[in-house]
Amino acid sequence: MNRSKKLGTNLITRYKENDVSYRGMILPKMKGNKPPKEGTTIVPQWMVNTYNPDEMDAKHFWSLATKESIGHSIISRADISDRDEINTRSFHDLHLKLGLVHTLFNVVKIIKGRVNFLEIGPGLGNIKILVKERFPQLKWHGLDVNCLFKHPNLYRGDGRTIPDKIPELGIVYSINVFQHLSVAQRVSYYNDIYDKLNPDGVFLFGMFVVNETNENEMTPEGKRLFGVKDENGNYLTHFFSQFTEIEWYGDIIETLEEIGFIVVDTKYNNNYCTFLCGKY
Ligand SMILES: C[S@@+](CC[C@H](N)C(=O)[O-])C[C@H]1O[C@@H](n2cnc3c(N)ncnc32)[C@H](O)[C@@H]1O
Repeated sequence: MNRSKKLGTNLITRYKENDVSYRGMILPKMKGNKPPKEGTTIVPQWMVNTYNPDEMDAKHFWSLATKESIGHSIISRADISDRDEINTRSFHDLHLKLGLVHTLFNVVKIIKGRVNFLEIGPGLGNIKILVKERFPQLKWHGLDVNCLFKHPNLYRGDGRTIPDKIPELGIVYSINVFQHLSVAQRVSYYNDIYDKLNPDGVFLFGMFVVNETNENEMTPEGKRLFGVKDENGNYLTHFFSQFTEIEWYGDIIETLEEIGFIVVDTKYNNNYCTFLCGKY
């Protein structure tokens, strides 16, 4: 077994051994953690350097995660295992509530002719269903590291690039995926998306984003909205035992603009920000 596969297995095993709820915070139980300071947990740098998407086999990690709990891996609800219910909840509680579907409806209204639509990380396919039912002018394509359903246009990718067999695109859409990627994986996708989009194409996506206003916000439960950092002061999120960086709003905009995107609109919902980018 290669190193990354072994890592993935260990992560799930350790998670179970610690008997920590899938929805709960795992960090305080991990050995080597520094005690929380002012409500912030500082994760030792070796842990961040080891348990991050650049060091792990994405396909293996996500297939283990979905085998452990399909509900947790898609909508952070380990108590739900029915695929249709997970799909419906994901659509209503995330895609609709975050407002990106609304933006998609507006974008589709002004599209002329038939265009290729790519969803990165479609999970159980709720957006594929929406596209089929509501947007006949879009041809759906999906790209995932761990495909959870069969579709002739659903491709398994390497987690950072868009395969050549995916044609020129009019729309790229992704929710609840980019926060699980390393910064390097995000930037790699941004570059590929820019190259694959036609001149009128748009890129809609969302992830956790920190800014000067929400940085110090508290949740209704009295916890910090962004309560985990590495030793260098970068904010982190975690999924099972994988850590990923939560970037600053300004840095993301700068990266997208350096690639050539115009960021047309951004919307916040607590710690989650959605972006509408075009080439123009
Ligand atoms: C939390 S689920 C969200 C699924 C779906 N977007 C939804 O909102 O219901 C994350 C999905 O992204 C996929 N994924 C994770 N890392 C990925 C990567 N680097 N590239 C493409 N897909 C990825 C997972 O396999 C999974 O299907």
